[in-house]
Amino acid sequence: MKNVIAIDGPAGAGKSTTAKLAAQKIGYTYIDTGAMYRAVAWKTLQAKKPVTDELILATVKDMTINLRYDNGVTRVFVDVDKEITNEIRTPAINEIVSQVARLKDVRDKLVTLQREMAKRGKVLMDGRDIGTNVLPDADLKIFLTAGIDERAKRRYNELTAKGHNVDLAEIKASITNRDKIDSERAVAPLKQADDAILLDTTAMSIDEVVDKIVELAEGE
Ligand code: DC
Repeated sequence: MKNVIAIDGPAGAGKSTTAKLAAQKIGYTYIDTGAMYRAVAWKTLQAKKPVTDELILATVKDMTINLRYDNGVTRVFVDVDKEITNEIRTPAINEIVSQVARLKDVRDKLVTLQREMAKRGKVLMDGRDIGTNVLPDADLKIFLTAGIDERAKRRYNELTAKGHNVDLAEIKASITNRDKIDSERAVAPLKQADDAILLDTTAMSIDEVVDKIVELAEGE
């Protein structure tokens, strides 16, 4: 069994859905690092000021972030136990989170927390730079991807199911833009690690992806 598992990939590839289910099946802790960048984005928006790098840096400096993994659900808390689990999954956060995640001071703080959480072992962590930067010695690295149209459709379904009124073409443009910023940033860009296994999920069901992750996790 692999002790530390890293899953990376672009927006909407199905990482969080499948990683969470796979972690549950093998009895591992699931760590959603995107939720941590989203928490910083959420708190930045609370200031109700134009979002500048200065505002983001001032925000991250003074905040605490906690993830609690409860019955297969990652709950997100900031500062003195303010829960924002649902508030971080909105189009407004999607719009600014890549800007937040570009900044070195933001990444340094969150990566330190992520490495600390992984120390306990039996973890499955997902994000953009887990295999390349956060946990380069992970026992298993998976790069999960899917075609852009499929990824846009998945994000669209996820947001409409939650009652957001969204447009498919706009979502596709927003995901493309986010991937571009995530892949081209100077600090720890989105990139497949040399030793990662590529999994293209375009034509795969959620169950098929989960089974594949479990099979790889159980491998020698
Ligand atoms: O996976 P997600 O959509 O929740 O991620 C939100 C953003 O956070 C994404 O645009 C890129 C960033 N991110 C990152 O830069 N590094 C990570 N390890 C995880 C997420």
